Amino acid sequence: MSKNYIISLDQGTTSSRAILYDINKKAIIGMKNKPFTQIYPNSGWVEHDPEEIWEGQLEVMKAVIEEAGVSYDDIVSIGIANQRETVVVWDRITGKPIYNAIVWQCRRTADICETLKKEGLEDVIKEKTGLVVDAYFSGTKIQWILDNVEGAREKAQRNELMVGTIDSWLIWNLTGGKIHVTDYTNASRTMLFNIKKLKWDEELLEHMNIPMSMMPSVVPSSGRIAVTDKYVVGCEIPISGVAGDQQASLFGQTCFDVGCAKNTYGTGCFILMNIGDKPISSKNNLITTIGWVIGNEVKYALEGSVFNAGSTIQWIRDELGLIKTSEESRIEAEKVNDTNGVYLVPAFTGLGAPYWDMYARGAILGITRGTRREHLIRAALESIAYQSMDVLELMKLDSGIELKELKVDGGASANDFLMQFQADMLNINIKRPTITETTALGAVYLAGLGEGIWKSKDELIRSWSLDRTFAPRMTKRERDDKSKGWKKAVAKSLAWEE
Ligand code: G3P
Repeated sequence: MSKNYIISLDQGTTSSRAILYDINKKAIIGMKNKPFTQIYPNSGWVEHDPEEIWEGQLEVMKAVIEEAGVSYDDIVSIGIANQRETVVVWDRITGKPIYNAIVWQCRRTADICETLKKEGLEDVIKEKTGLVVDAYFSGTKIQWILDNVEGAREKAQRNELMVGTIDSWLIWNLTGGKIHVTDYTNASRTMLFNIKKLKWDEELLEHMNIPMSMMPSVVPSSGRIAVTDKYVVGCEIPISGVAGDQQASLFGQTCFDVGCAKNTYGTGCFILMNIGDKPISSKNNLITTIGWVIGNEVKYALEGSVFNAGSTIQWIRDELGLIKTSEESRIEAEKVNDTNGVYLVPAFTGLGAPYWDMYARGAILGITRGTRREHLIRAALESIAYQSMDVLELMKLDSGIELKELKVDGGASANDFLMQFQADMLNINIKRPTITETTALGAVYLAGLGEGIWKSKDELIRSWSLDRTFAPRMTKRERDDKSKGWKKAVAKSLAWEE
């Protein structure tokens, strides 16, 4: 008897979600979401409780299955898409974390990164890992835990500790502590993985003083990776797809051809372009990452990582109280014709691509006595599009590809004002699919391919359908003026904390 469902676990920065995908209906038929605590122990530091993440993820997974009245036996497999770079170090025997997860946004290892730069490692790191040296990536976070948690270094040397990104942590728990793995896409975010040789880099591990014995085995993004423990989950279900969430959405958007690009508007904004079988080394401060590995197929992507996008809307909602709901931001922004010269640079956790300034901090510029609440709200939304524009301009240069369109997804892609402004500032068509849960969908596709539900990626292309195209309608002059103002504002926010 063939089975009918795939479960996707979308473990993001602010919430854990589970979706239930009906293979016959080709549709998502259930979704459960559970936010978890954001811990800010110091300025610029961000942590999560790994146990809270795991318990929440298990709870939503069970809830979505039970609410749909689906039998566990009817589930083909589980796919995982996870917030990337965030690391957990745990005890091999007890399975307990020895410290909170250090989140991708956390800036605490800026000084370790400075040391790496002073030691002349920037070029080596770029050459091997495709990354720039920045506190964003996992390597220095692991080093920090080993250096700062009492007894951690000794335990690591005695081979009593394990480390992993959130995918590893979830798989370890789902399998009742039997399987310690990560996939190639997640490994490519650690600053410890050679993306050409496709293995952990001994020199970099040694340099950051991280024992190889702590590292997970690296597995393809699709194919049977493990089976859940029946005492933990209630049934033995194969785990057959794993990818970092941004790579999962590249896959979910069916960006299978070279030059196809997507932007996911989540906590941050992550623009990835498929660049094919060979890594391109960016000359413009973008990063090169693994898009997916399926069997012998290795696909690379160029990425521009913008740290604060949806979080900017949350900030004007939760901290400033300018709006009550995120949806309200569109209505308020459309009440005014422009921002009246106001720019908001949301460098809350420094700036990512293409500035890579760990010391940049947020700024609101151009305020006059005539500045109204609506102008600020509009400036917050526009900042998301400006940051994406900064990345796309350079992506065109690095790839030599003149982009004609950009596929979009994620929460804020539902905001029509933002999507129109994005089309205007990029001067290309923005294409929004009917299903914007593309991250979760990418994990479904990887898991389904891994179990032979779909025979090839070509079958998936037909399932992408368009909701709406946003065509540019701004004049060049207006675009240039706005872009100039934005760049002036960014310049003011750089190196603020230095
Ligand atoms: O690199 C960080 C990224 O994976 C976070 O994604 O969706 O939680 O904002 P998201």
